Amino acid sequence: MKALVLSGGSGTRLRPITHTSAKQLVPVGNKPILFYGLEAIADAGITEVGIVVGDTAAEVQHAVGDGSKFGLRVTYIRQEAPLGLAHGVLIARDFLEDDDFLLFLGDNFIVGGVAGIVAGFRSDPCDARLLLTKVPDPTRFGVAELGPDGRIVRLEEKPRRPKSDLALVGAYLFGPAIHRAVRAISPSARGELEITDAIQWLLDEGLDVRSTTITGYWKDTGDVDDMLEANRTVLEDLEHGVHGEVDADTEILGRVRIAPGAIVKGSRIVGPAIIGPDARIVGSYVGPFTSIAEGVHVEDSEIEYSIVLADSSIRGVRRIEASLIGRTVEVTPAPRTRAAHRFVLGDYSKVRIS
Ligand code: TTP
Repeated sequence: MKALVLSGGSGTRLRPITHTSAKQLVPVGNKPILFYGLEAIADAGITEVGIVVGDTAAEVQHAVGDGSKFGLRVTYIRQEAPLGLAHGVLIARDFLEDDDFLLFLGDNFIVGGVAGIVAGFRSDPCDARLLLTKVPDPTRFGVAELGPDGRIVRLEEKPRRPKSDLALVGAYLFGPAIHRAVRAISPSARGELEITDAIQWLLDEGLDVRSTTITGYWKDTGDVDDMLEANRTVLEDLEHGVHGEVDADTEILGRVRIAPGAIVKGSRIVGPAIIGPDARIVGSYVGPFTSIAEGVHVEDSEIEYSIVLADSSIRGVRRIEASLIGRTVEVTPAPRTRAAHRFVLGDYSKVRIS
């Protein structure tokens, strides 16, 4: 059994972060989202992993390397453009050969991992096994319609009028028949080879497609709110551990992880929160569900329920909430005398002024 991890794509919903970096490498709990998936794959006893990469190939390869730190052997498969999930399978034909495989979306987050479903598929294989979960807003996902016997009868990608509230989770198990399916289908209206169309092809051919409905937590970290929620979930299980330097004027409440090399002075840190190596927190409040990456500098500021990426600095700002702040960003208050806002904003930025 192999795994195919899709780590290309365009990440339009996470712009501007994805203008400069891969969305699968945005950290939650100070660890790239992709790493949770790779760890889950290793836990399921799979070692041969193909990673489909796009424009951010160099960054993904730099972060994951040959996979040995996860106990995996990684082969990179270059996708020239984000032409769809089924296109990812199409171009991985040589790597996958006729082996059964787990298809895993590199920006998805499944608490509890995939070991159970992989073991189930190994002992009772079929042409495809899908994971489904109930979601409040099925229009954002691939949606499954089940027949009276509980078997899948139809799949629809991001339907306007969903036939059920069962969304496809970003982990699928396939036998080799899927290769015929991805060759048989045509691009959808949005120009992508859809995995839902490929699975629908299997259904229409009368092949054996089954599903398992999971109740555990699953997140497709497509947008900022999803990222912050995934971060919250990871921090819920955070173990307390103060390894950095914390002065006597600092108050630490709840489960807080402070990495070696971090310095915290005259601050109040309310967990769950994580502070990365070489970060400096001075005269500030860091509230629950906040991940501060390495080398970040927070001074005279307040921040909670947020993710701050490496080497950014936040000075004199009260208060920041529900924010995703990229790498090497500077956040400072505007001088009070100015009546107007002054911006230097990248394309597709979203700015809210109160
Ligand atoms: P999506 O989140 O469906 O697509 P996207 O990354 O293009 O994002 P957006 O909708 O915000 O523009 O992709 C799911 C995962 O699959 C993600 O890790 C990116 C990856 N992917 C590929 O590797 N190749 C592709 O052609 C597509 C569409 C996605």
